Amino acid sequence: MDPDFWHARWEQNRIGFHLDQVNPWLVEYWPSLGLHAGSRVFVPLCGKSLDMLWLAEQGHDVVGVELNPIAVRAFFEENDLLPRVEAAGPFEIWSVEQITLLLGDYFELQPAQLGEVSAVYDRASLVALPEDMRRDYVAHLDALAPGVPRLLITLDYAQERAEGPPFAVSDEEVRDLYASHGSLTRLAAVDILDANPRYREKGLDRLVESVWRIG
Ligand SMILES: C[S@@+](CC[C@H](N)C(=O)[O-])C[C@H]1O[C@@H](n2cnc3c(N)ncnc32)[C@H](O)[C@@H]1O
Repeated sequence: MDPDFWHARWEQNRIGFHLDQVNPWLVEYWPSLGLHAGSRVFVPLCGKSLDMLWLAEQGHDVVGVELNPIAVRAFFEENDLLPRVEAAGPFEIWSVEQITLLLGDYFELQPAQLGEVSAVYDRASLVALPEDMRRDYVAHLDALAPGVPRLLITLDYAQERAEGPPFAVSDEEVRDLYASHGSLTRLAAVDILDANPRYREKGLDRLVESVWRIG
């Protein structure tokens, strides 16, 4: 998507994707990645997700990247955290002890700036991107975080009946995008349409959220 699309969303506070609780899938399935406390976790397209706090509480160092300054500022303010802010090339680095948010464009992030990470958490990131960007997103993730396990949460529905984002990403597409990534396990798949009536109003008859472990 065009960066302006996301900036407008944040400026107008149209952020229905943001959860005011930690994602239950994360709590349930993160342990299956078998990481030890202290390992660094990358959260691409992180918004102001509370999941980053939860990951930090598990003992991880967390690095997120987010395009929009309102989101980054809100993450720290709303959680009573006082960040240090410094400029670094095309990014601004906002950090507290265990959490670093890189304010800038994911596609401009280079491996040297991110540093080594041990896992990736992708919720509402892959599905935030239109189909023609998703392969580039995965290829860039491969460059940034090669060979590390990933927890991925996707949504699937009849794309022709509703506009994204979030975009529908089918099981076939997940399998295709991650074909060369070792093991791919679907940990859960639940139809969440009843809990999301506005999607039923759009004419959908299924809205399946899936949780995947990659690698
Ligand atoms: C659907 S939201 C999901 C946010 C978060 N993962 C969550 O679960 O709440 C997608 C986020 O990605 C950000 N974003 C979109 N394109 C980006 C890019 N190229 N680089 C960094 N952030 C981006 C948007 O500003 C938005 O906050």
